[in-house]
Amino acid sequence: MTAGGCTHIIFRHIIWSSHPLAIIRRNWNFMNIQENVPLAQYTTFKIGGNARFFCIVKNGDELKDVIGFAKKNILPYFVLGGGSNILVSDKGFMGMVIKMEIQGKSIDDTMINDQVMISAGAGEMWDDFVEYTVDQGFNGLENLSAIPGTVGAAPVQNIGAYGAEVGQFIYSVHALDTQTMKEIEISGHDCHFGYRNSLFKKEKGRYIVVSVNFLLKKDGKVNTEYKDLKEYFLKKNDQLSIINNQITPAQVREAVINIRWNKLPDWNLWGTAGSFFKNPVISQAHFDEIKVKYPGLPGFPEASNTGGHEDLVKIPLGWVLDNVCKVKGIMRGGVGTYEKQALVIVAKAGATAGEVVAFTQDLMKQVKDATGITIEAEVEWVN
Ligand code: EPU
Repeated sequence: MTAGGCTHIIFRHIIWSSHPLAIIRRNWNFMNIQENVPLAQYTTFKIGGNARFFCIVKNGDELKDVIGFAKKNILPYFVLGGGSNILVSDKGFMGMVIKMEIQGKSIDDTMINDQVMISAGAGEMWDDFVEYTVDQGFNGLENLSAIPGTVGAAPVQNIGAYGAEVGQFIYSVHALDTQTMKEIEISGHDCHFGYRNSLFKKEKGRYIVVSVNFLLKKDGKVNTEYKDLKEYFLKKNDQLSIINNQITPAQVREAVINIRWNKLPDWNLWGTAGSFFKNPVISQAHFDEIKVKYPGLPGFPEASNTGGHEDLVKIPLGWVLDNVCKVKGIMRGGVGTYEKQALVIVAKAGATAGEVVAFTQDLMKQVKDATGITIEAEVEWVN
């Protein structure tokens, strides 16, 4: 790590335990807390000021220690995974940034309804984990290939792409409940997954993901329903394979990687966090109204998150930004929309968080003026 210019301080404190050996082993627990660490290097936007305090955690005990420290010192805390879905303020974060590096993967061969349980630590890189599951012959996660970030961030965001959402495959999540300071197991059902939403977002800061248990199948069945995927295999003259369901999870993974590569910016060249906004979900009546003005507007039925009975429609905001607001590929200073995907905000080296905020607020206003829709950021603002 190259936290140039930052100072290191060691905090020591006693952890009491009833077992005498445990007292000797854990009596003095060292937390390597750094001060004034530049956060830009830990985010894919490559933007942002310093973390007042910064600590890497590699296991559940270290996590508890650092949360205990933050609570004792009344410091706000923020858990950092791959930094791929955040925008850090130019002023940085005046609390404790906890860099999640809890590793480990395991397979439990006991079958549960034809499915196998695979667990991964919150600090594992998401795409390495997806590759591992596909290599081991499990299917389910291949549509979620090449998404940057960590395993621990996946349930928080309920990451989704190419016809799949991670919540469909989560059996349970082990998390630290920061109110009780106990590690608990939360069932997939109790995670309340919705579109880019979950319990972890709804009760922000309360639960910190330690590891995730996935249930995956080994039957080789794949999901190629998403338009881009279907087109990809049709172009490769694989229509027969689609009909006969002969496409393998590894081929779907390869397809998703190729599609993403062609549509999304190179994260090494641009600062970006992928889709900056969520796709809005609006009422059928509102959709019908806009559709009169913009007949080409696509819309997909969306189940209500709140249990309501109103018909809801999810619309691709990228389409609106591109075809209604006509802002695809525009740049203002160092910030713009990506030339191949208007929902993706890109930033040149040297751009500031302030510029990103000003640019995206202007987009929000343009969408509101043209369609009456209030859009919401998907990317989390850290300040
Ligand atoms: N579209 C345009 N112009 C654009 C962008 C999109 O006309 O500039 C149209 C496309 O032609 C397509 C529709 O809008 O008909 C949807 O576009 P796309 O398939 O690219 O998906 P998206 O809804 O824009 C979502 C996720 C992406 C994920 C893709 C693929 C959100 C906020 N974003 O984007 O996730 O990769 O679906 O499944 O739900 C991310 O979260 O960072 C991300 C990249």
